[in-house]
Amino acid sequence: MPIPKAELHLHIEGTLEPELAFALAARNGVQLPYADTEELRKAYLFEDLQSFLDLYYGLMAVLRTEADFEKLADAYLARAAAQGVRHAEIFFDPQAHIARGVGMGTVVEGLGRALDRSAERHGISTRLIMCFLRDQSAESAMATLEAAKPYLHRITGVGLDSAEVGHPPAKFAAVYEAAGALGLRKVAHAGEEGPAAYVSEALDVLGVERIDHGLRCMEDPDLVERLVRERVPLTLCPLSNVRLRAVDILEEHPLPRMMAAGLLCTLNSDDPAYFGGYVGDTFHAVHEALGIDPEGLRELARNSFEAAFLDGSAADEAL
Ligand code: HPA
Ligand code: ZN
Repeated sequence: MPIPKAELHLHIEGTLEPELAFALAARNGVQLPYADTEELRKAYLFEDLQSFLDLYYGLMAVLRTEADFEKLADAYLARAAAQGVRHAEIFFDPQAHIARGVGMGTVVEGLGRALDRSAERHGISTRLIMCFLRDQSAESAMATLEAAKPYLHRITGVGLDSAEVGHPPAKFAAVYEAAGALGLRKVAHAGEEGPAAYVSEALDVLGVERIDHGLRCMEDPDLVERLVRERVPLTLCPLSNVRLRAVDILEEHPLPRMMAAGLLCTLNSDDPAYFGGYVGDTFHAVHEALGIDPEGLRELARNSFEAAFLDGSAADEAL
């Protein structure tokens, strides 16, 4: 039996497996620039975050209808359930779809169809977190928040993703303030490729409750002390860090040092179709490569529920 866990850092578009990408391409008459799934998988040799993002945004062309988004989410939830996930907080990137002529309603209602059945079908409770693309303008982020207003009953929070360096959190101060006023929870990617200062800025200027990635906090001892003191959760994604070259090899990942420092670490898969494993695979990999023992793995799983946006309702208590 895999350890029960919550997954808090998961881009639904990053769960698009090559087989499903080709099936959706055929259904929607989209021509992919790869002969077959094997050739597509061979393209997964990333240099850095940007080289991954280029492929990730390109492959989204196959996602066109509500049924496509429903299928994508249902396939993820089935895989996650098999790896012990009981609660999933799922990111999506509306700007990447709206730019292709696929509206907010198609994305949210399509994902929502799968999420509505998730507890019953997969034993997983869910939340949706809408991410702003930080390499697009603050005005575009604000327009995206506006476009989400009819769907806020389905959206728990906002996040910030895409190319980090050169796009500091403060660029999005106004849209995070507006999101907070709408009752949305706040998270942001920070300290993945960007500096430790972006982690502090996300906390101070955006008021985020969790940091996605955050591993470069280790370059600033004062920041580590603050994150420990304030019990700020970090949603770490070690397999992603290796594939995107934030660390050279898994054996050198700072996770053991981060746990020893008292940081509230959680383990997540980020974009599992691209990075070689779902969250259960990630637990297994850190055990093998980093020697995290069973008690350490249980601590990471416990942390994931502490860090989740669960409200203690009867449905949540049943987890
Ligand atoms: N970092 C930033 N943006 C992303 C990622 C990531 O790991 N995955 C999908 N969008
Ligand atoms: Zn991410």
